[in-house]
Amino acid sequence: MDKDIKILAIESSCDETSAAVVVNGRQVLSNIISSQIDIHKKFGGVVPEVASRKHIEVISIVVKQAMEEAQITFEDIDGVGVTYGPGLVGALLVGLQYAKGLAYALHKPLIGVNHIEGHISANFIQYKDLKPPFVCLVVSGGHTYLVYMKDHGKFEVMGQTRDDAAGEAYDKVARAIGLGYPGGPKIDKLAREGNSETIKFPRANFHDDTSLDFSFSGLKSAVLNYLNQKEMKKELINRADVAASFQKAVVSFLADNSLKACNLKHVDKIAVAGGVAANTCLRETLIRMGHENNIEVLFPDFVLCTDNAAMIGSAAYFEYVRGNTSSLSLNAVPNLKLGER
Ligand code: KG4
Ligand code: ZN
Repeated sequence: MDKDIKILAIESSCDETSAAVVVNGRQVLSNIISSQIDIHKKFGGVVPEVASRKHIEVISIVVKQAMEEAQITFEDIDGVGVTYGPGLVGALLVGLQYAKGLAYALHKPLIGVNHIEGHISANFIQYKDLKPPFVCLVVSGGHTYLVYMKDHGKFEVMGQTRDDAAGEAYDKVARAIGLGYPGGPKIDKLAREGNSETIKFPRANFHDDTSLDFSFSGLKSAVLNYLNQKEMKKELINRADVAASFQKAVVSFLADNSLKACNLKHVDKIAVAGGVAANTCLRETLIRMGHENNIEVLFPDFVLCTDNAAMIGSAAYFEYVRGNTSSLSLNAVPNLKLGER
């Protein structure tokens, strides 16, 4: 049997500092995540400068813990995987520079990973036999993509948001109804107590009706207008109904386009990725859609949906086996596109 490939992976693109050890892209030996959410909560969102400083404080500890939990030594690893984009530049640079230092000192290859490809790769950890091709819905705080993954490293963007990302819309609407940051899980919870049929929020229409793109900023404005009008009329606002109605608008948009993408590519498998993949309504809706259309719907566990280094370790492994290592001059690319190297 071929030798196991062990990747030490580092993720610091936003507000989580994470390190993981992953074997052959599928088996997680450790996945340590230090979240800054409690710090950024006070500001109502991620403050980039604060995020970079916090990454610096904890990165050594997080890497040390990941190695201890995996019970391996630095000598045992085959490569250092790291997110180099997209993300906040200062935050990315902390993880990238740390990874470069390690790779240099250990004489091990450095493998730069695209954060979005990492999110997709979380599915390879969850589903041990999963192989491309499949359609992937990537829904996070910064990105919303419908992707056809033809093979490892071969991505075709079928649709994407033209303005706000799905998670961003959740966070902004949550702030407007006084739920705080991060809004996604809070809206998810509150919506369970509300009626999603109460308010009909609009869906964006594009001139090209074959487009699989998304748009959520109009929806966000419609929620803000609804709240303003209610306040002006001094009427009571049922926040649970607002949350449920908003969530229904987002989820139905995501699900409808996902089904169209599967039909267009004649695939019977859709993998979901990114922080919003943790959403219970999205999970239920896509699973129902899957049953009705003979499409298998794949979701990683919650911990693999939001930012973590294990998913980066998985993506790094698939780059490594294709011979794609990076030079030590690798820089952070804040707006790195999917499939771009
Ligand atoms: O993937 P992620 O951890 O970071 C980015 O790469 O952006 O995603 C974070 C986003 C946030 O916008 C958060 O509100 C959203 O994922 N999120 C959720 C849920 N859990 C996290 N959105 C909806 N429902 C959830 N349960
Ligand atoms: Zn992410």
